[in-house]
Amino acid sequence: MKELEKYHQAFEKYLENAITDKEPRQLYEPIQYIINLKGKRLRPMLTLLSCDFFGKDFNAALPAALAVELFHNFSLMHDDIMDNAPLRRGNQTVHEKWDRNTGILSGDAMLILAYQYFEEYSAPMFLDLAKLFNKTALQVCEGQQHDMDFETRDVVSIDEYINMINCKTAVLLGAAMQIGAIVAGAGESCKENIYEFGRNLGIAFQLQDDYLDVFGNPEAFGKQQGGDIISNKKTFLYITALQESNEVKKELRQLYNTSPKDANQKIARVQALFQTSGAADATLRETEKYTHKANGFLEKLSLDENKKASLKEFGKWLMKRTV
Ligand code: IPE
Ligand code: IPE
Ligand code: MG
Ligand code: MG
Ligand code: MG
Repeated sequence: MKELEKYHQAFEKYLENAITDKEPRQLYEPIQYIINLKGKRLRPMLTLLSCDFFGKDFNAALPAALAVELFHNFSLMHDDIMDNAPLRRGNQTVHEKWDRNTGILSGDAMLILAYQYFEEYSAPMFLDLAKLFNKTALQVCEGQQHDMDFETRDVVSIDEYINMINCKTAVLLGAAMQIGAIVAGAGESCKENIYEFGRNLGIAFQLQDDYLDVFGNPEAFGKQQGGDIISNKKTFLYITALQESNEVKKELRQLYNTSPKDANQKIARVQALFQTSGAADATLRETEKYTHKANGFLEKLSLDENKKASLKEFGKWLMKRTV
């Protein structure tokens, strides 16, 4: 999608001067570190795109886009502590490079910095942005708690899983898009439908993230391969594989109730079970299903056909990602 490069560049330029060197170093250095590990910048690009598509100069949405990206990076810093993750964007996680306390406090500071960027907007708009942001941030916490709770549960339903990823991941993509629409001054129905478009793409995005955690190329993906398997995460892959047969169910449950010394052995066996049970393919189909569902909300949007086509193209591109 050709517009994305334009948003990406504008965002990086804005970011360059945003996070300044401050004391104490131990607090701000990890913030600069994680932000400078780049990442795809999907959410801020979506905020800028949405503002642009709803008819306002996208530069007006830069502070809001940065707020969204700072919030995302805060959630990653804390998520990596909770998931015991050693790698992020191909580099050491903050709690590994420094320590857990640093990850907690620098993460907290990043959340507040995010919030501060909404102060750039005038009072009525600030209120709209803050309401959406607060609602979304709380849902992310709820999703993260479900995600952790499910680690030690044997039975998790597909509905519970979808609700969990809706909260921990999807609502932020929806919000990123609605924030752009708010800055552009779009109408209620536009704000609602672009939110639903982003949210459904977000569900597809997390399904894909779970798939790549197991089957992706760790070099490209930048995270520890099989991290979800080591943590006994109840992903769509796992829940679907359990439904395949009693044999698969028994073996998977056993594997997920033990923490073997050799994690690689467990990962290799689970990978094989996810493949042979058909769970891997089912996950890709589910990703397509939610991408398709997202497109349904475009029908309801009053936007030029070429813009709708661009948004569809974006969803398709997202589904094919390897990073
Ligand atoms: C990772 O998000 C966390 C999830 C919600 C799956 P991204 O895959 O967008 O991470 P970066 O920002 O590009 O590194
Ligand atoms: C991430 O879910 C959701 C949030 C950060 C809120 P994951 O735990 O799957 O994300 P990664 O795989 O570590 O990026
Ligand atoms: Mg994680
Ligand atoms: Mg997690
Ligand atoms: Mg993941």
